[in-house]
Amino acid sequence: MSAQIIDGKAFAGTVREKVAAHVTKLKTDHNITPGLAVVLVGEDPASQVYVRSKGKQTTEVGMKSVEHKLDVETSEADLLAVIDQLNNDDSIHGILVQLPLPKHLNEDLVINSIDPSKDVDGFHISNVGMLSTGQKSMVPCTPLGCLMMLRDHHGSLSGMNAVVIGRSNIVGKPMAQLLLGDSCTVTIAHSRTKDLPEVVRRADIVVAAVGRPEMVPGDWIKEGATVIDVGINRIPAPEKGEGKHRLVGDADFATCSERAGAITPVPGGVGPMTIACLLANTLTACCRANGLEEPEGLTA
Ligand code: GUN
Repeated sequence: MSAQIIDGKAFAGTVREKVAAHVTKLKTDHNITPGLAVVLVGEDPASQVYVRSKGKQTTEVGMKSVEHKLDVETSEADLLAVIDQLNNDDSIHGILVQLPLPKHLNEDLVINSIDPSKDVDGFHISNVGMLSTGQKSMVPCTPLGCLMMLRDHHGSLSGMNAVVIGRSNIVGKPMAQLLLGDSCTVTIAHSRTKDLPEVVRRADIVVAAVGRPEMVPGDWIKEGATVIDVGINRIPAPEKGEGKHRLVGDADFATCSERAGAITPVPGGVGPMTIACLLANTLTACCRANGLEEPEGLTA
């Protein structure tokens, strides 16, 4: 079997179009412009690239974009003061503190100081709790993007066996909660899981989110299963020239795509969905803050 490619880049474009259309409606009908604030501490090059891309896409869908770039030496008190100011700013509906933070800052404390209703990352402890108890919450962007693609491909996920490889707070755990919410039978596998290949072979849906290049080979995949590859790993590519690199996922695309029914490529799969879902979450947060109906199909 040769797998259908799930085109995350195109899907993300569709999500952004839906968001933009709803933003226009909010402006014309209610004179409201959703606002997203991104806080970056320090000058980590990868984080700078993400933040720039977030700002650009936020503006492109018609939202207000605010960036707070703070010195790497910023104290916890100063960072908390910035967050407090954003919590109390009615023109800001979403707040994202770019991770990782410099070592002297307590990430949990910082994240939990964000107003949960503006926590568009869905990392605040109360959003984590609400997701796990099936209450309306802000849902982490990457797993939300994966869920949207799965629903789009399968329709109902009810009764399917899903295996999530990876137990991070950002992807693995919330992904498992979302799949459970859609009535999958969910297994969370990780580095200590016994007989991982056999566990994965039972899955109708495999979500690979471990951050290890090409660790899932095709012979772990049940014929016809759907593979969602969250990994973005940069590996040396001497075939492209000296010092060159290429991006690969956590699944070995060449062999997995021979057995899977559908698979997300890397790049162009899950990656583009993350920022699209951040915009969707900001819109959702704005609608909730104003007591307005939420856009359909953009939330869990
Ligand atoms: N750093 C890498 N991914 C993310 C993300 O999804 N949210 C935040 N806040 N920081 C990140």
